Parts: sequence; structure tokens; C-alpha cells
Amino acid sequence: MTTSKKEQLPEDRYEDRSLDVALRPKAWDEYIGQKNIKKNLKILIDAAGERKEPIEHLLFYGPAGLGKTTLAHVVAKETNASMKISSGPAIEKVGDLASVLTNLAPGEILFIDEAHRLNKSIEEILYPAMESRSLNIIIGKGASARTIQLELPPFTLIAATTKIAALSAPLRSRFSGGTFKLEPYETKEIEKIIERSAIILGVKIDDEAAQKIAERSRFTPRVANRLLKRCRDFAQINKHKVISQDIVEQTLQLLEIDEKGLENTDRNIILTIIKKFSGGPVGLQTLSAATSEDSATIEDVYEPYLIKLGFIERTPRGRKATPHAYEHLNITNPGQQNTLL
Ligand code: ADE
Repeated sequence: MTTSKKEQLPEDRYEDRSLDVALRPKAWDEYIGQKNIKKNLKILIDAAGERKEPIEHLLFYGPAGLGKTTLAHVVAKETNASMKISSGPAIEKVGDLASVLTNLAPGEILFIDEAHRLNKSIEEILYPAMESRSLNIIIGKGASARTIQLELPPFTLIAATTKIAALSAPLRSRFSGGTFKLEPYETKEIEKIIERSAIILGVKIDDEAAQKIAERSRFTPRVANRLLKRCRDFAQINKHKVISQDIVEQTLQLLEIDEKGLENTDRNIILTIIKKFSGGPVGLQTLSAATSEDSATIEDVYEPYLIKLGFIERTPRGRKATPHAYEHLNITNPGQQNTLL
């Protein structure tokens, strides 16, 4: 089952799917970064393997593009389990979940992406399914309503979310194998990912060029791979055999990506806060209307990086542009001027 609500996800998740699958690491030795998570998961997997049991339920969270799905695939591969993939918005009715769960083979993994978008009635079916492998379904209504209980095969649920706080506490507590937070990657790790991806794509890339892409990849493998593919296209069209620093520079200029990795939309968000709302604070919904960007996309895709760079701040009254943002966009900060006087 796949999600039917593509348009509500960042569009680059759907770009060049087959190529993205090819770039995905398949095993631990290919998986770069997230050292601590790897260490913990390896022990969990090996121990469960010795006991000949499926691994316990896992929850992965962190910003979009850091490889939560990739990690789930690696776990499946390392445990020799097959994996069914679904997502919060795709499981609309209790019957959808019942059908997925009852069709699992023993030992199979069910991966649910965007778990924060599961509705409450679905979450409630999941509790006993995760805890005691029982599926309780109510048939009928009113006085004639009956609950039937089905036993499920042993299975592992791996859920992924960008918004851990939006998951109910009872659901969170049922991930008995653990909850793992994926951290933004180090620039050096992104560089290694780019070098590995270049080999898979069959393109040559200079060390300095890989470094330049890495520096502008928002500490995110998905962005790094996307930029690498665009540099490869540029090099190919211009008959260059190697992706050099110069090729990267020209490609990023064409894509209007600046030296901090900001794209037009990022700059538009900051500029809107500065120009239309005097630097803020401005509420998320107002900012969404003023920029014509979906509020969830601002919150999940753009804002985390702008906050990480220290360009915007979240306050109880809304988003504010910081002095760093004014400096980066070369705009005089009236607040700063006053403090100097
Ligand atoms: N591609 C995406 N994430 C990756 C990772 N962590 N290691 C290697 N390649 C990747």
C-alpha cells in the first residue's frame, strides 16, 4: 500500500524514485552516519536474531530527508525480514489497518511513515496489536455491537515521524524496542554520501566539488543526492567528464541556491517576515497566507533548517527573523540600529 496523498509531502520525495532506491544504502556497512543509532540497533537485531524472535517495535523521528525510511529498509535487510510500507494518511479507516495487519506474514515488518497523521481511532487499534498481537474489531452498532478479537502473527512495527510530540503518549510508550532520534548529518558525512552516490551514478567528482555540494545540502542526504543529480545533468549537457567545483558553482547558481544552502522559498519566508511583518513575530498561519506556502511544509521542511542556521526564531507569539537573517540577506536591521544609537 502506498500513500494516496502525495501532494501533501515535500515534492522531492517523489523525484526520480528508481534512482533514489538505487542510491539508498542496503546494509550497515553502506550506511553512513547516525553512529549511535546504528550501534543500538545492531545489538537489538543481533540479540533478537539469537533468540529467533522478530525485533521489537521501533520509532524513528527527526526532520524530513534524514533517512528514516532508509534506516527501516536497512533494518529489514539486516533481519532478513520482508517489509510492508504504509503511511499515516493512507490508513484512513479501521478496516485499512485491519487488512494490513491480518495480511502480515509471521516475522514481517510493517513500516508506517508519517505516523503523526494516523487518526485516534487507528491508534487505538494499534495499542493491543503492538502489545499483545491482538486485533479487536467492533462489528455492528448500538446494543447489537460486538467485539471480535483476532490473533495476529508475530510482527514488528517501525513507525517514522517528523513530529514526535503529535503522537499520543500511549502510542509512543508501545515502541518497546526504542525511540530513536535521527540527527542532522555532519558535513563530512554528507561528503562521503555524495562520493558513494557518485560511484553508483557512474560520475566522477572532485573532492572540492563534493565538499561544496555537502556544504549546501542542509545536513540532509536527500538534498545532497538531489543536488548531485542536478550537477551530473549540468556536467553531462556541457560535455564535462568530471563534476568540478566550477560545475557545482554554476549548477547551484542556476538553481538559485546560495552559499548557506538556502533556496528561493527559504529566502522568501525570511524576507516576508522582515518586509511584511517588520521582522516578526508572525503566526504560522499568517506567514503561510503571506508566502502562499502550505503551513505544514513551512513547519516541517523549511523552518527546521532556518532555525538550525539561527535565521529565524520560534517565540510564543510566532516566528521572528534574527539579526543573522538580516545580515545574510544584506538588509539593514532597524532593531540593531536603535541599539547602536
Ligand atoms: N543515502 C541516504 N542516506 C544515506 C546514509 N545514511 N548513508 C549512505 N547513503 C545514504
